[in-house]
Parts: sequence; C-alpha cells; structure tokens
Amino acid sequence: MAIDVLNPSPPTFQRRVGMDQVPPHVPKELVHSAGITFGPDFLAAPHAFMAAMHEKFPPLFYDVSPFGNAWTAIKHEDALHILRNAEVFSNEGATPFPRDPDDYFYFIPQEIEPPQHRKYRMIVDSMFSPQGVAGLETQMRQLANELIDKVIDKGECDFTEAFGRPFPVTIFLRLMGLPVDMTDTFVEWAVALLHSNDRAIMAETLKTISVYLKSAIAEKQANPDDGVVSRIAHAEIDGRPMSDKEIFGFVAFLFIGGLDTVFATLNNIWLWMAENPDRRAEINADPENINAQVEELLRVHSVTFSGRTVTRDFELRGVQLKAGDKITCLLPACNFDPDVFPNPTVVDFHRPKKIVLAFTVGVHSCMGAHLARLETKVAMQEWLKRIPDFAVKPDTKIVYRPGGVVGPHHLPLVW
Ligand code: HEM
Repeated sequence: MAIDVLNPSPPTFQRRVGMDQVPPHVPKELVHSAGITFGPDFLAAPHAFMAAMHEKFPPLFYDVSPFGNAWTAIKHEDALHILRNAEVFSNEGATPFPRDPDDYFYFIPQEIEPPQHRKYRMIVDSMFSPQGVAGLETQMRQLANELIDKVIDKGECDFTEAFGRPFPVTIFLRLMGLPVDMTDTFVEWAVALLHSNDRAIMAETLKTISVYLKSAIAEKQANPDDGVVSRIAHAEIDGRPMSDKEIFGFVAFLFIGGLDTVFATLNNIWLWMAENPDRRAEINADPENINAQVEELLRVHSVTFSGRTVTRDFELRGVQLKAGDKITCLLPACNFDPDVFPNPTVVDFHRPKKIVLAFTVGVHSCMGAHLARLETKVAMQEWLKRIPDFAVKPDTKIVYRPGGVVGPHHLPLVW
C-alpha cells in the first residue's frame, strides 16, 4: 500500500458501511452498533458513554455504522500498540473526508507514512515546538483578557461564542497568516465538514475550502510572510519545491485539524468547571499544579479519535484482523481505561503520570499539541483570575454536536 506523494491516488481497499458489509472473518459476537459520534445515548453524554464502554463492550469489537464500519479499540494498551506500529496500522485513507477520485490529494502529514512523514513535519516543527508556541503566550494572555473584557460586566455569556471559539481560532489564524475577520466563515466550513455526518455536504464543503485555500496559497506564494501557510507554500522537500497538491494537502489538513479541536476542548472543560465549583476552587488554590490540571482535564475531555487501516493480516487480543480492515482507537475511551487510570471518571489532579491519549502517540501524534496545551492553560488561568465563580445558566439543556470532534454546541454561563 505504499503511496506515491507526487501521484496521489485513492486507496484501493473497500469502504464498508452498515450490517450488510460486515466481512465474514468478523466473529458475530464482536459485532456491535455502538452509535459512536451520532447515537442518542452517545450524544446525551459522550464522555460518560465512552467511560462506561469498558463495562458494556468487548475491549476490541467491530462497530457497524452508517458512517463506516471499523474495529474499535478501547483499551489504552491496545491503542499504544496500534499507534506505535505504523507499518501494520497505516494512515492511508484514514481521513474520512471525501475527495474527488479524479483529482485526488493526500492530507499531509496525516496520511503520509515514515520516512517521508518526518520531512513534512520538519517544515513547520519549529513553529509548533514548545519554544515556538511559547512566543505566542503574551498575545494569548492579551486576547483572553480582551474577550473577557467584552462580557465580564454582563454577568453572563454563551461561552462558546464569546470565548471558546474566538480565543483559539484567532490565535490559530494569526499563526497561519489567514484573515481573522473570516473566522465565522472558516468555522462554518469546519463545522459542515466535521459535524454534518453527510458525505455530500462534506464533499461540497471540502470543495469550497479548496477554492479558498488555493487562492490563499497563491497569494502567499506571491507575497511571502511569517505565517505557516507561507512557510509551507515556499518549502522544499528532498531538494525540490513541493507540488501544488502537497502544499494544498498540508495547508488543508492544518486548517481542518486546527479550527475546531481546541474549541471543543475548552467547551468541555468549562462545562465541567461550571458544574464543579469545589474543583474549580481547587484549581485556583493550587496554581503551581496547572500543568497537571490541564493534562488531567484533557484526559477526561479528549475530543477525537485515531483511525487506521490494517495493511496485513494481524492478530490482536486473539482476534483476526484482515488487510484492508479499518480500526479506530477510541482515544477518549482509552483515557478512561480503569487498568491504567483507577477510578477513571474521577478528576484527580495528583494522578501518577501516565500517557494521556488526547493527542495520540506515535509518528502521527498531534502537531498542535503544545499549542493546544498552552492555549488551554492560558485560558484557564486568565478566566479563573477574573471570573472565578460561574455556573451553567439555569434551565439550559446541553446539546452535543454529532461528529468526530466531541463537545457541546452551546454553553450559556452566568456569574
Ligand atoms: C485540544 C486540541 C487538539 C486535539 C485534542 C488534537 C488531537 C489530535 C489527534 C488525536 C491527532 C492524531 C490523529 C490520528 O491519529 O489520526 C492529531 C493530529 C494532528 N493534529 Fe491535532 N489536536 C488538537 C489541536 C490541534 C491544533 C491546534 C492543530 C494545528 C495547529 C493540530 C494539528 C494536527 C496535525 C497537523 C495532526 C497530524 C499529525 C501527523 O499526522 O503527523 N491539532 N490531533
């Protein structure tokens, strides 16, 4: 299944959907329809649902879904094994976004395997490294306070609109060198792509995003600046300029990966803080422990998954996987594995250090992880300093968005 980056072609393995397409090698007792990302039980309380999966589902089962069937791994140990073994568990075709087979491109670095993968990451590594993102801390604190200024005297806000969205999206767009005044349009596109669960809408949205990003890339090629898009547009790989499709596939994946994930994470954490005043006070009373607090909150509120394709027949947990099967590491469920995190649903800011799988592990571990951690830390520190007591507005029904990035739709707060 080796891919040729300069001649992108769609994966040859079959995309299986629904009960009619369960392959014969899957044992009947391992077939489930868990409704992950869309079912009513999942959407009622996604993280509680994924925590409870350890009692209700086998550790490795075959999930049948209208959005694509896949083996589903919920044990932390299995996820580490899968995610660290890119040769057997490949990222080719792992991204669910539909593309024109006649004008195919790869999402970079997400769909590229070692050794090429590293060459792409090196192009922007310095901008996303701990040192690189530390340079953004001052503007992050300033932006957080500007957003708080706008609402603090009102005594209420929709957190998602007032802070959860504009805070990370503004920082991300500035870093990319894309216009901040297009935030609403970009977010609309990201939401249509990540949360519609409708492949026709996803395909149409991807086309719209493509038209915009291609013109933005052309603009950066003509007028270079310090942003990530410009850096990618002018980068060389193996001593040659990158092709148009490589540049586009790289910028497009960053655009998709960076717009919605921190947003969902902040919404989840603020909902938890609003509902747990004593624990919020504990955070405020122990400022030295902020990094462990962020990590523990990322553990119980992780928002996305790692999908892979099995490249050759392989046995896992006594189960026979076949080449071409899809497999998803359900990272939020893995983060509730009681064998690794005892009393997994309890938020414990003094847990022994273990690998939290919010950003995955292995070659494809999240490129934005340092940025996302710093944003979460700064947002918590600045908000709690000025609005230490807040609650969910009475009579609010929290509704979760369907799709592969888990978080509430709106979060009305009062203080
Ligand atoms: C809390 C926020 C975030 C979470 C929870 C998150 C989570 C993840 C996860 C789980 C993966 C691995 C996907 C897989 O295994 O298939 C990933 C990959 C990636 N993420 Fe993030 N992400 C976040 C924020 C960001 C941001 C802000 C950016 C961009 C600035 C970003 C860029 C990327 C990229 C480029 C990859 C692909 C890395 C590769 O394949 O080498 N992420 N992210």
